[in-house]
Amino acid sequence: MFNDFKLTEGRPVYIQLKEYLKRMITNGHLLEHQKLPSTRELSTLLSISRNTVLTAYADLEQEGMIYAVKGKGNFVSHVETFKSPSIQLNWTEKINNQSFLAEEMDLMKHGVRWNKEMISFTSIAPDEKLFDVENFKRAFLNRMSIEGDIVLNYGYAKGYKPLIEYLLHYMEIKGVDIRNKDVLITNGFTEALDLLLSSLNKKNGRVICENPTHHSALKLFRLHGFEIDGIEMEDDGVNIRKLETSLSKKEYDFAYLIPSYHNPTGIVTSSEKRKEIMELFSAYQLPIVEDGFNEELRYSGSHLAPLAAFAGHGNHVIYISSFSKILFPGLRVGWILADKELIYYLESMKRARTIHTSTLDQAVLYQYLNDGYFEKYIKKAKSVYKKKYELAVHYCKQLIPFKRLTGDGGLHLFIELENNIDSRKLLEKCYQNGVVFSPGDVFYTDNSGKHTLRLGFSRLKESEIIQGITIIGDTIKNHYGG
Ligand SMILES: Cc1ncc(COP(=O)(O)O)c(C=O)c1O
Repeated sequence: MFNDFKLTEGRPVYIQLKEYLKRMITNGHLLEHQKLPSTRELSTLLSISRNTVLTAYADLEQEGMIYAVKGKGNFVSHVETFKSPSIQLNWTEKINNQSFLAEEMDLMKHGVRWNKEMISFTSIAPDEKLFDVENFKRAFLNRMSIEGDIVLNYGYAKGYKPLIEYLLHYMEIKGVDIRNKDVLITNGFTEALDLLLSSLNKKNGRVICENPTHHSALKLFRLHGFEIDGIEMEDDGVNIRKLETSLSKKEYDFAYLIPSYHNPTGIVTSSEKRKEIMELFSAYQLPIVEDGFNEELRYSGSHLAPLAAFAGHGNHVIYISSFSKILFPGLRVGWILADKELIYYLESMKRARTIHTSTLDQAVLYQYLNDGYFEKYIKKAKSVYKKKYELAVHYCKQLIPFKRLTGDGGLHLFIELENNIDSRKLLEKCYQNGVVFSPGDVFYTDNSGKHTLRLGFSRLKESEIIQGITIIGDTIKNHYGG
């Protein structure tokens, strides 16, 4: 007995001993009223200090697992070890259709699998080598010393007040009229959109968006039972004529648009088109959900105001953004800026669903932003991504036969292949050669995009970008000629 006790490093020994003994008691290896070894015996047997055994025994006594008899030692208490007859439910039978649909659309489970030795263009997550962990640690210590006790308690559903104030100001600087607007803090963009879809009246059950568009948004629209109409993308944004035709023919609940560094095409909607979009939606009195996730990653060209700024005092733009791409996705912090009345209801939906986003995370983020570290980080990140972007464009233009290549900056490029090459078939071949990318069809609203692919370059080294694009180019040459 006790010869299978093994210590793992870095965890208090008395806790490990306590857990070991508890397991023996609950498993029935130590029986009710059985005498435990004395503290001296057990410490010698396990080569640990006597104090450690004393502490473990004291805790077990406090938890009612053992009892002490003066002058006699420690004994095992009565512990219920009854187990009901073992049953095996079929959980698949109990899963609802929404959950089946979520599983079906889960690219992590059904998308391309790759291993660490491969060059993967599938991710558009930030390059973690850029993260200034030291300044984040500093912000953490600062905020904890100011109000550590408060941020560890429950907070407000709407979000951490200083962060809300910061973001209102941040949006005002972007040119947004914040009068009668408010901010709700969310767990990233994805939760924000989910909350919104859970709160809006599904009168027409139809949403209009760019085609292709962000895969997670498509998933949510489908999970919430919306029909999706996608409007083709031109090099300066959505095709206005087609947008107008659709708006005139069908009734929509809202539009979802990504005006800057659109995912997946990387296109930035021009200023002229932004105006036309706003005019059109004003005429139809339709809400626009604007996704501003990436707009800070501007490498060149003049500043472009978000649609929310074009709306002026109007209240039909619901602006959603997140710190996932422009800072740290692990924080899962995003925000919605919208009309006060809408935020009022979204706040209740947020409270009902998740109570609030982690106050600790919001508070540390606020400190980081307020101390000016974000400004410095984004400058550095932009210069690194710009180099990668230019390199990727250069090599794609040289080595990949394309009908169309788009991407005005950001973290990815989008390619429509020449000669109707099926990008999934190409992916299979590239996979054999150690390179993977995202087939573009997953971003389309209408099962098209068979000849397209997205190349995310943010996390790759410059040498990997060159090598990866060269391999894609060679694979095309070897299999399709050219
Ligand atoms: C278009 C778009 N919006 C928003 C996000 C950020 O989502 P989240 O904040 O939930 O990570 C992404 C991330 O890839 C995106 O591509």
